[in-house]
Amino acid sequence: MISGTGITKTFTQRGGVLGAREVPALRGVDFAIPKGGAVSFIGESGCGKTTLGRIIAGLETCDSGEIVIDGVAMSSLSHRRRQPYFRRVQLIHQDPYSALNPTRTIHQALAAPLALRARQTGRPRSWADERARELLGLVGLDPGYVLPRYPHQLSGGMRQRVVIARALTVDPEVLVADEAVSMIDVSLRLGILALLKDLRERLGVSVLFITHDVATARYIGTDGELYVIYRGQVVERGPVESVISAPVHPYTQALLSAIPVLHGLESPGEQRVVPVEASGEHPDGCLFAPRCPFRTERCERERPALGRDGDVPQEHACFHPERRSVVAVPVSRR
Ligand SMILES: Nc1ncnc2c1ncn2[C@@H]1O[C@H](COP(=O)(O)OP(=O)(O)O)[C@@H](O)[C@H]1O
Ligand SMILES: [Mg+2]
Repeated sequence: MISGTGITKTFTQRGGVLGAREVPALRGVDFAIPKGGAVSFIGESGCGKTTLGRIIAGLETCDSGEIVIDGVAMSSLSHRRRQPYFRRVQLIHQDPYSALNPTRTIHQALAAPLALRARQTGRPRSWADERARELLGLVGLDPGYVLPRYPHQLSGGMRQRVVIARALTVDPEVLVADEAVSMIDVSLRLGILALLKDLRERLGVSVLFITHDVATARYIGTDGELYVIYRGQVVERGPVESVISAPVHPYTQALLSAIPVLHGLESPGEQRVVPVEASGEHPDGCLFAPRCPFRTERCERERPALGRDGDVPQEHACFHPERRSVVAVPVSRR
């Protein structure tokens, strides 16, 4: 189990005519990834998803807030003593090609971490070879074909499977998949998503999906939780089905309204929520207020915190939450 409270991160961007500029990437994010669970972070580019994923994987530190892994607060440990905890969280990048060394065969790529694992766990060296074959099988690859080959000899989908197999060499508890299918051929994406789902069921590993794409977020399954992030703040959070079928935050509604309506689906018509042209920043107000078609004077003065009210199953950060069915549904369901 890994959780975080009040995760805050501001970057200082230098250069440009205005000199240094402070960019708030995360503004007090709380999250929990239960053991064996599935969680998805969704939001448009630049909202802070990758930064949050990197902090969860221990590749970046937060300015304030706390990450707790299996009951241990990471701030209480030295950098060195934190490492074994963060090793339980493995990050899978969007680009499987740059994640693998082009001059090494897949056998070499897996042998190094597995030899280390063999030493750590007191297993014989021969175990590493066996385990490499086993892991490749687990991710749906033929070890005999893949092991002697170089990354460029494999398809993007196969490479991403190798990256996942390599992440599994350390027996992680959490896989963080950051836009893990965005650079893969559309026809192969579903296979990778199905694999991650399958690993969750077979190994009990938790999966954190980070995506800007609603269809991918939806794929995590009915027992998953969805976090909608807008400019570094979680604005809606809850069971994936209820957030998607009855979102209450205007930003979530706008995000879902943008999905094209496919054949066999019925558009909810009037219900689409289209953000308005941004109008001025309100330093203390709701972050979405400048673009929100439903904003009131209060939204420009005060920033709503994430919380629960009424009978809505999800949490939201909005003074005027209202259920709106913005997602197209199969024609037969109506
Ligand atoms: N290393 C960095 N230095 C400066 N700014 C950064 C850095 N990493 C991210 N940012 C900024 O933080 C914000 C969030 O970025 P990121 O986490 O990559 O968003 P996302 O993954 O949702 O697209 C963006 O405004 C981005 O420009
Ligand atoms: Mg990103």
